[in-house]
Amino acid sequence: MIHARLPEDFAWGVATSAYQVEGGRHEDGKGESIWDRFSDEGRLRDRGDVAVDHYHLWEQDLDLLAERGVPAYRFSVAWTRVIPDGDGEVNRAGLDFYRRFVEGMRSRGITPYLTLYHWDLPQPLQDRGGWASRNTVDAFARYAGVLADALGDHVGHWITQNEPWVSAMLGYKDGYFAPGIADWSQALSASHHLLLSHGRATEEIRSRLGNAAVGIAIDCRPTAPATPSEEDRSAAEHFDGFRNRWFFDPVFGLGYPEDMMSLYVDKGKVEPEMIIADGDLDEIAAPIDFLGLNYYTTVSVGAGAEETDETEMAPTVDPTPGYTETGWKIDPDGLRRYLEHLSASYSPASILITENGASYSDGPDETGEIDDWRRIDYLRDHIAAVIEARENGVPVDGYFVWSFLDNLEWLDGFSQRFGLVWVDTNTMQRIPKRSFDWYAEVARTGTLPLP
Ligand code: FCB
Repeated sequence: MIHARLPEDFAWGVATSAYQVEGGRHEDGKGESIWDRFSDEGRLRDRGDVAVDHYHLWEQDLDLLAERGVPAYRFSVAWTRVIPDGDGEVNRAGLDFYRRFVEGMRSRGITPYLTLYHWDLPQPLQDRGGWASRNTVDAFARYAGVLADALGDHVGHWITQNEPWVSAMLGYKDGYFAPGIADWSQALSASHHLLLSHGRATEEIRSRLGNAAVGIAIDCRPTAPATPSEEDRSAAEHFDGFRNRWFFDPVFGLGYPEDMMSLYVDKGKVEPEMIIADGDLDEIAAPIDFLGLNYYTTVSVGAGAEETDETEMAPTVDPTPGYTETGWKIDPDGLRRYLEHLSASYSPASILITENGASYSDGPDETGEIDDWRRIDYLRDHIAAVIEARENGVPVDGYFVWSFLDNLEWLDGFSQRFGLVWVDTNTMQRIPKRSFDWYAEVARTGTLPLP
């Protein structure tokens, strides 16, 4: 058996997001978010009001991490707990909850990585246009400042936005995710405002916390043409622009990709001067300390699928080998290639893999054990890809598994399980899977056993 070692300061962790784990829908003055509304409307397979009750069980959950020596935890704050209507009064009880939470991490030796926004916009802001409105950027910047003031002494790592493509496109173009709007021009405004909010929040945090490390978590879908034909090549280039470059380019100071901008203008999808004000691109390109990369899979794109969502990937509980239960192709080398591409294209100072993981529904066997060896294989191969990219000069400095706990996978509810820890959604009992012990050992020792 070969062992690959990573340096001591490599950040190893697990990740969750507020809406997917917390529950506590009506606790301590929490306001309504767009996902609460979506859930109330019956748009999710399972309701989110309780999720996996992390709001009440967080201490025992942190104990699970501490007992195994997992060094870092990426979580998100529910904006609606802190400022229930989005831009009005600050809710002291909500801030106190997160204060206890991050203190709980520190006292257990766990480093918090705080995400400000993981899709749960306050509904009152949506009622005034949501991310399609520039006012939401101001509200977000204020929220970032409130949190930096309240938690900055305990939190040194800040992630502004999680996956702006999903928020903008699944939320405002396809209407598939909350807030359920299907309008191209709103989606493009939303994408710009989400990026602008990242830049503004970065400045808000930096001006208060001189030593904080700030970044953004961007999702990627590395793309290849379905066939070598000219039509498929051009479709893949277009998809890459729509899905990836539209977000990475402006964050790294290149502005919006010109090929995409002219396409959107031609199709009447956007009037740039209506959305992009002087100075916006500079704000979006505020220097960041790290790029967060969420990576799950790669896609091949043919003509006609230039701007599709994820529909080509049908979930299944009985995946063919090579696919996970979300229907996503397993492609660890795609991660290595994409890391090398990002490094060559944008020269980020540092990259953290802020999400990577696999959905498999393996549950307890007759002895109560959960032998999710397919998840172990997935994680091992992706961590090996990270190590290879590092050896090839890419500055990857951390890796976070999605997810710590089985949780509410958005529309799919509890039917997709990404956790290292099994959750019985009736009793809320937690059962560590074999992958949890395997990963914790890797994280604690910084050593990857390779077969
Ligand atoms: C990412 C999301 C995360 C989770 C995983 C499976 O797109 O950031 O909340 O749903 O996918």
